[in-house]
Amino acid sequence: MTPARFITFEGIDGAGKSTHIAVVAQRLRQRGDEVVVTREPGGTELAEALRELVLTRPMDSLTESLLVFAARRDHLQRVIEPALAAGQTVLCDRFTDATFAYQGGGRGFDLGVLRTLEQWVQAGRQPDLTLWFDVPAALAAERRAQARAADRFEGEDLAFFERVAEGYRQRIAAAPQRFARIDGARPLDEVQRAVLAAVGLEP
Ligand code: TMP
Repeated sequence: MTPARFITFEGIDGAGKSTHIAVVAQRLRQRGDEVVVTREPGGTELAEALRELVLTRPMDSLTESLLVFAARRDHLQRVIEPALAAGQTVLCDRFTDATFAYQGGGRGFDLGVLRTLEQWVQAGRQPDLTLWFDVPAALAAERRAQARAADRFEGEDLAFFERVAEGYRQRIAAAPQRFARIDGARPLDEVQRAVLAAVGLEP
């Protein structure tokens, strides 16, 4: 089996994914892989500027969707595609599944429009593997409350995050072979073992 080169990490805010990305990167580098760790929205100067706007300024769902896809376009062209072409492994904290979950599920924005934008922006590019951190919305909310000041998404209520989780589940149902479900409610060491196994590394 060809190893996954473009790996994305998804889940509702507070699911705990970010902690594990650094560990996967370190282990892949030990194995000799060249690894790029990046995030969305973000990963380039322009995309990080768009991220700042999306996370802090009031806007409607279409504007939000256009901005995250604009950031994604720049990120793909400048970082992701060149890295993959050079044989590097790309670990990306969120990607298009987050748009379907947050803008589609959370905000209730038109999935057909999101699919059109996806085709325009990605020209068929999809992650090889997506780790989905599945955590009950109430547990994720507890973790967020301890962690940091809320941005425009993190301040949303439990019902919003239930819809986001449902958005992820629908996306997974449409392409189950791309996803590995990680039970993010388990103790940290167990989650870490599951993450390493999912990317084909020894625990
Ligand atoms: P982060 O806190 O995991 O870095 O993600 C930033 C926020 O942006 C998070 O609340 C999810 C949200 N988001 C979207 O709404 N749409 C998207 O397409 C992406 C990538 C993130």
